[in-house]
Amino acid sequence: MQIQFQILRQAPNKPSYAQTYCLEADPSQTILDCLNRIKWEQDGSLAFRKNCRNTICGSCTLKINGRSALACKENVEAELKRAHLSEADMPTITIAPMGNLPVIKDLVVDMQPFWQDLQAITPYISRESPALPEREFLQSPAEREALNQVGNCILCGACYSECNGKLVNPDFVGPHALAKAQRLLEDGRDQATQKRWDDYGEGIKGVWGCTRCYLCNAVCPMEVAPMDQIGKIKQKLLAQKNAQTSRPLRHRKVLIDLVKSGGWVDERKFGLYVVGNYGRDLKGIASILPLGLRMLSSGKFPVFFEASAGTESVRALIEHLQSDTPS
Ligand code: FES
Repeated sequence: MQIQFQILRQAPNKPSYAQTYCLEADPSQTILDCLNRIKWEQDGSLAFRKNCRNTICGSCTLKINGRSALACKENVEAELKRAHLSEADMPTITIAPMGNLPVIKDLVVDMQPFWQDLQAITPYISRESPALPEREFLQSPAEREALNQVGNCILCGACYSECNGKLVNPDFVGPHALAKAQRLLEDGRDQATQKRWDDYGEGIKGVWGCTRCYLCNAVCPMEVAPMDQIGKIKQKLLAQKNAQTSRPLRHRKVLIDLVKSGGWVDERKFGLYVVGNYGRDLKGIASILPLGLRMLSSGKFPVFFEASAGTESVRALIEHLQSDTPS
């Protein structure tokens, strides 16, 4: 079949431009096969990365019709189907370099920021003592099993290329690094757990920088599900705090408790419970007192509270959701 490849090309420090190549291709050929043929038969100056040609090394990640994927994994037929392109009218497949990384030439990007972000999570098992043990560290089959999914990561960068968190926040270390972080937290041989908790939960460079856009899960060719791994770290971080010491957690808990008891938020209690820590934090109460007085004097303070007529249904709905949600 005749097929067009529209490839985004770029010389160092020059603006990018699209170049189109026509190819007589077999639908079973991979996108990498097609790129090889373009390079060998039509234009030797086209630059792209490849190595194993077998979904192992992670070198050949590109944006194929706007979606980050391994060029050696996707074939022409599947790509046409995914993009709803018909074989009959000379379909065009667009090829662009990975996102979130600077282009060196054509489809070759500078992977340095990707590796630096991985380095930032200390991506190796850390022991308190540097002394070598007399024998290897053994794991049970169950302990090893827990590492399998994340252990499948080939560091191809498809998740990083799609990551909206990375796009808006250069400090965010990215889904590839945090999936690896979850693997290390799960590994019983590692002894740097507390430092890892502190690092991975710090500001928005760790798990709290994830925008939960789900694209990393959608494009990962190895089904590592980076966003799910980030979610596991968040759950564990939240479980370490309690509502008495953590104001963000208290905010969430008070909101749910009040809606459960009255169908909607009783604003008279909300500030007192969240900022005033249920009346324990006198400094907190003092800080919201002026606001309360201003609201009172302008008639905005809700002196009375009337429960919603639908309280029972709202409570049942919340309890149903809570019973389905891991704590
Ligand atoms: Fe190795 Fe594609 S060339 S993963």
